Amino acid sequence: MPRHLRSAWFKTLGQLALVLVAAVVAGLLIGQVWPVLTAAALAVVGWHYLRLRRVLVRLGARQRLDAPARGAGAWDELDRLLHRSQAEMRARKKRLLEMLRAYRAAAAALPDAVVVIERNSQRVVWFNRAATDLLGLRHPRDIGAPVVERLQSLPMSHWLAAGRNAEPMHDAASPVAPDLRLNLRLIPYSEEYWLLLARDVSKLLRLEQMRRDFVANVSHELRTPLTVVHGYLDMLDPQDMPEWAPMLSEMQKQSQRMTQLVEDLLTLSRLEAQDSLPDEGVAMAPMLATLRREAEALSQGRHAVTVQDHAGVDLWGSNKELHSAFSNLVGNAVRYTPQGGAIAIEFARAADGGAVLRVRDTGYGIPAAHLPRITERFYRVSTSRSRESGGTGLGLSIVKHVLNLHQARLEIESQVGRGSTFSVHFGAERVHPRHDTPLPLAQSQTA
Ligand SMILES: Nc1ncnc2c1ncn2[C@@H]1O[C@H](COP(=O)(O)OP(=O)(O)O)[C@@H](O)[C@H]1O
Ligand SMILES: [Mg+2]
Repeated sequence: MPRHLRSAWFKTLGQLALVLVAAVVAGLLIGQVWPVLTAAALAVVGWHYLRLRRVLVRLGARQRLDAPARGAGAWDELDRLLHRSQAEMRARKKRLLEMLRAYRAAAAALPDAVVVIERNSQRVVWFNRAATDLLGLRHPRDIGAPVVERLQSLPMSHWLAAGRNAEPMHDAASPVAPDLRLNLRLIPYSEEYWLLLARDVSKLLRLEQMRRDFVANVSHELRTPLTVVHGYLDMLDPQDMPEWAPMLSEMQKQSQRMTQLVEDLLTLSRLEAQDSLPDEGVAMAPMLATLRREAEALSQGRHAVTVQDHAGVDLWGSNKELHSAFSNLVGNAVRYTPQGGAIAIEFARAADGGAVLRVRDTGYGIPAAHLPRITERFYRVSTSRSRESGGTGLGLSIVKHVLNLHQARLEIESQVGRGSTFSVHFGAERVHPRHDTPLPLAQSQTA
C-alpha cells in the first residue's frame, strides 16, 4: 500500500479508537458505560454507511460528479481514487471516440466506394458516400441487406465465394449506370469482416481505348503509303543503276522494316481489342513442320534446326494467332543465335495434363535483369542487335497477348552466352487427343 493510503488508513483507525475511548470515558463519568459505548458504536457504523453510500453514488453516476472534499480519512482517499480513475477513463473514451470518428470520416470521404461486409451472412455492415454514387447503396435502407441481392447486376456470389482468392474485377459495369466502369476488389481484412472496394475507372478505360484507337489508326494510315513506296522500290532493278545499288538495298531493307513494324502494331491492336478467340482444333504436326520450314528459311543453313514432337495431342485455339506467337519465338531463336548454333523446337505433354511448346537455342542469352520486362512493347536487350536482325521490338508482346487469350503462360530460362529456352504452357483444357496417325519419328525429327 502506498504511504499516503497507509496513513489515511491509520488515521481512520485512530479516529475510531478515539471515539470508542471517548465513549468509555463519558460512560464512566455518568456511570453508564455500556449504553454510551453501544450508542457510539452505532453512530460510527451509521457514519460509515453514509460514506459507503456516497461511494456507491459516485460509481453509479452517469454524469461527471464534483471533485471529492479534501478529507484525509480512508473514505476520502477512496473517493479521490475513484474520481481520478473515472476521469481518466472518460478522457480515454473520448480520445478513442474522436479517433474512431476521424477514421470514419476519412473512410466516408474517400473517392473510392468502401463497403464493410459481414463475412458469414454476407450482409452490408457499413458503407461510405462514394458507395452510394458508384454502387447505388442507400442509407439506411441497405445497412444489413445481403450484398449479393443489393448488387445484383455484378457477378457477386461466385466472387464472394472465392473469398481470399477472389481476383480483382478490372472492368465491371456499375449497377448505377452501365457506362460507369468499376474496378472491384475484395479485401478479407479480418475473420469476421470483408472490405469491398470499388474504384471508378471509366476515364482510365476511355483513355486506354483512345490510345488503342490512335495506334490502330496511325498504323492503318501508314500501311497504304508504305505499300506504295515498297512496291516502287521493289520494281527498281539495282543492275540498271549500279551506283545506286547500295542505297537501293538499304532503302528496301528499311521500308521492309517499317512495313513489319506497322503489321506488328496492327496485330497487337487487333489482339488487344479481343476478349477471346475462336476455338478451333490446332493440328500441331503441320504447325511444327511449318515452324521448321520458317526457321530453316530464316537461318539459311547457319543453324542446326531440330523438331521433336512427342506430345501426341493437339490444341484448342486460334491457328492463325498461335502460329504468329510460335513463329515469333522461333524467329527470335534464329535471330539471336550466332552462326553454328542449334535451335530445338519441342512439343511435349506437361505433368498437369496440359502441353508445352519449347523453343531452345544456344544463342546470346538474356541477362536475368531484363527478363521481367522482356515482353513489354519495344523492350529490347540490345537495340542495335534487334534492328540489325530486322526485329521490331514487338514480337514478345504479341506472344504474350496471344498466350493470354489462350490462358497459356510463357516461361523464359536464359543464360548469357549459353542460350535461352522459351516454354509455352497450355492447360489441360486446351489439349485434345490427336486423331490422325502420328508421323513416324524419323520424319518428325530432322537434324
Ligand atoms: N531467343 C532469344 N535469345 C536472346 N535474346 C532474345 C531472344 N528472344 C528475345 N530476345 C530479346 O528480347 C528482345 C525482345 O524480343 P522481341 O519482342 O521479339 O523483339 P525483337 O523485334 O527485338 O526481336 C529482343 O530484342 C532480344 O533482345
Ligand atoms: Mg522478335
